[in-house]
Amino acid sequence: MRTPIIAGNWKMNKTVSQAVELCRKLESALQDSPVEVVVCPPFTALSAVFALGLTKVKLGAQNMYHADKGAYTGEISPVMLKDVGCQYVILGHSERRQYFKEDDELVAAKAAKALEYGIKPIICVGESIDQRRAGQTAEVVVSQTKGALAKVQPDQVTDVVIAYEPIWAIGTGETSTGDDANEVIGTIRATIAELFGEEKAGQVRIQYGGSVKPENISEFMNQPEIDGALVGGASLAADDFINIVQYK
Ligand code: PGA
Repeated sequence: MRTPIIAGNWKMNKTVSQAVELCRKLESALQDSPVEVVVCPPFTALSAVFALGLTKVKLGAQNMYHADKGAYTGEISPVMLKDVGCQYVILGHSERRQYFKEDDELVAAKAAKALEYGIKPIICVGESIDQRRAGQTAEVVVSQTKGALAKVQPDQVTDVVIAYEPIWAIGTGETSTGDDANEVIGTIRATIAELFGEEKAGQVRIQYGGSVKPENISEFMNQPEIDGALVGGASLAADDFINIVQYK
């Protein structure tokens, strides 16, 4: 059985005080649930959120660099993320691939480094609208999945989370259908099976992301291959995120 995981990707939003306020609301409103809940605030708020000692919400970062320390101005290392309680890190988000030119090789290096420190990577893959129209969705996600997992050891792969996020659905209000996302996620799982075997692939959690809202979360969570969601915009409002986590 795979434990579902719903993560909030706050992107470049929330000051420290806003982050603390939102996390306090989540902690007091969330019931004990079978879903693992993660929030990924900006780096500047991680320490203050960690100091809250949350019990119902785990902490993740939105990116990291693949070195322990050193002369990498502006970067954040896995040592630093561990120090502020991060158990997860989002890697290879399409915004990082698009605006910061991250490629599969870099994502692979980061994923391996995160795992070395016991931080679970949430690796994002997904096709653009042009690739979808050209019928290349499967090809794109297979190649991104293989690329990102290139340096992952067999005994580590079950700590990896993959987020399937079709780029055209991110922040647009457009979503994939549950059936369609389920099919693509099945393809991703088959790729992991090809690399690491069926048994391991059956334990890897794969999320859907892209305009997930309280109104559509159950359409995705009811699918057999979909193990959770990576939520952007709707994770910024306490009520919306609580309703998503407590989907029926
Ligand atoms: P969205 O973003 O929920 O605002 O579409 C999802 C994401 O980018 O992870």
